[in-house]
Amino acid sequence: MRLSWDRILAKRVAAFRPCIRTDFSRLSAPPDTIHFTGGAPPVECLPTEPLAEELARAWRSEPTALWYGETEGYRPLREAIAARLARRGAVVDPDTILVTQGAQQAIDLVARLLLEPGDRVLVEGPTYFGALQVFEPYAVRIEAVPLDEEGVQLERLEELLARQPRPKLFYTVPTFQNPAGVTMSLERRRAVVELAERYGVPIVEDDPYGDLWYETVPPPPLRAFSEDVLSLGSFSKTLAPGLRVGWLVAPRYLMKPLIDAKEAADIQSDRLLQRAIAAVITSPWYEEHLTAARRVYGTRCRTLADALARELGDLATWRLPGGGFFLWVTLQGDVDSAALLPHCAAAGVTYVPGSDFYPDHRPSPSFRLGFTTLSIEAMLVGAERLGRALRAALVEAAGR
Ligand SMILES: Cc1ncc(COP(=O)(O)O)c(C=O)c1O
Repeated sequence: MRLSWDRILAKRVAAFRPCIRTDFSRLSAPPDTIHFTGGAPPVECLPTEPLAEELARAWRSEPTALWYGETEGYRPLREAIAARLARRGAVVDPDTILVTQGAQQAIDLVARLLLEPGDRVLVEGPTYFGALQVFEPYAVRIEAVPLDEEGVQLERLEELLARQPRPKLFYTVPTFQNPAGVTMSLERRRAVVELAERYGVPIVEDDPYGDLWYETVPPPPLRAFSEDVLSLGSFSKTLAPGLRVGWLVAPRYLMKPLIDAKEAADIQSDRLLQRAIAAVITSPWYEEHLTAARRVYGTRCRTLADALARELGDLATWRLPGGGFFLWVTLQGDVDSAALLPHCAAAGVTYVPGSDFYPDHRPSPSFRLGFTTLSIEAMLVGAERLGRALRAALVEAAGR
C-alpha cells in the first residue's frame, strides 16, 4: 500500500509558497521575451577572478577549513562585516554577528526564535515576498503598513504597534526597498526606532542593498539607532547570490539561541567561502567593484525610467530609486497588474505583479521591474513592448 502523504504532511506545508506567487512557466510567452523579473547582479559584475584566487589560496593554505568549525562564522569575516557597517554609521561588536546562508536564512532564524502561531507580524506594504514565504508557515497574522516617499507611514505604524496583542516584530527593508525602491529618510528612521521601542516591538531590518546607491549615500542602517534592532545583510547583491553568504546582527541576548538554531539548521556556513569573501571584501578591489556596480545600476535604472517615460508616461507613474535593483511602476486607475500580465507575456515582456508583494495578495495596479541583468538594448525593447501591450490590454478591458 502506498503511504497517504496528504495525511502525514505537517499542516504548515499548506502555507509554503513558491518563491514568487506568479507562475511564469504558465504564461505563454515567445522565446525572445524580455523578463524584468530578476533581482541579481549581471554576469559582468560577478567577482569571478578575485573569488577564484582567494578560494584557491584558502584551499591551499588552510586545509582545516574543510573540517567542521565555528557555527557563528569565520571571525575575520565577522570583523570585516562590522568594519563595513561602521563605515555606514552602525557600530557593532563582531561577537553580535552571525554568518548565515544569505539574508534569507537570517529571516528564517529570526522567525524560528520569535514566532508562535497566532502572533501578529508587521511588514511594509508592499514587502519582499521572500519574507512572507518565511513568516506564513508560522500561522501568524501578517499586517502590511503602507509606504510613502519617506518610508513606512508613521501614523499607521503606530496604530498597529499600539494594538493588542502587541506585534512580535516589524520587518522592514528601509534602504532601496524591494520592491518599491523607497528609502526611509533619516528623520523617519529615528521616529520608527523610537516608536518600536516605545511599544516594545523588535525591528527586523533587512538591508541587502545599502551599499548599492547610485549617487547619494543613504542614511545609516536602523541598527545605528538602537542595539535592539536585528539587522541583516547579504553578499548576494554586492558579490553573487549563488554564494549564499549573508549575516545577522542581533542583540547580544539573542546570540546563543541564534547560534543554536543555526547549528540545528545547517551546522555552519561554507568555511572556505567565508575565508575567500573575507579576503575579497577587505581588498582594494572591492571598493572599485562597488563603484563600478553603482555606475552600472544607476545607468540602467535611468535608462529604463527614460524609456518608460516615452512608452507609458501617460499610463503610469513611478519614483526613481536612489539605489538598488528595482523600479516600482503604478498604473493609473482601478486595474490589477496580475490580470494584465498574460497580455504582456504574449507580447514578449514580463514583470512581477504587485499582488505578489502583499500578504493578502490584494489586486494591485503596481508592478516591479528589475533592470540589473538586462542590457540597455533589451530594456529599450522591453519598455516599448510593455507600453504597447499595456495600452492594448487597457483599451480591451475598458471596452468590456
Ligand atoms: C529584501 C531582500 N531580502 C533578502 C533577500 C534574499 O537575499 P539572500 O540571497 O541573501 O538570501 C532578497 C533577495 O532578493 C531581498 O531583496
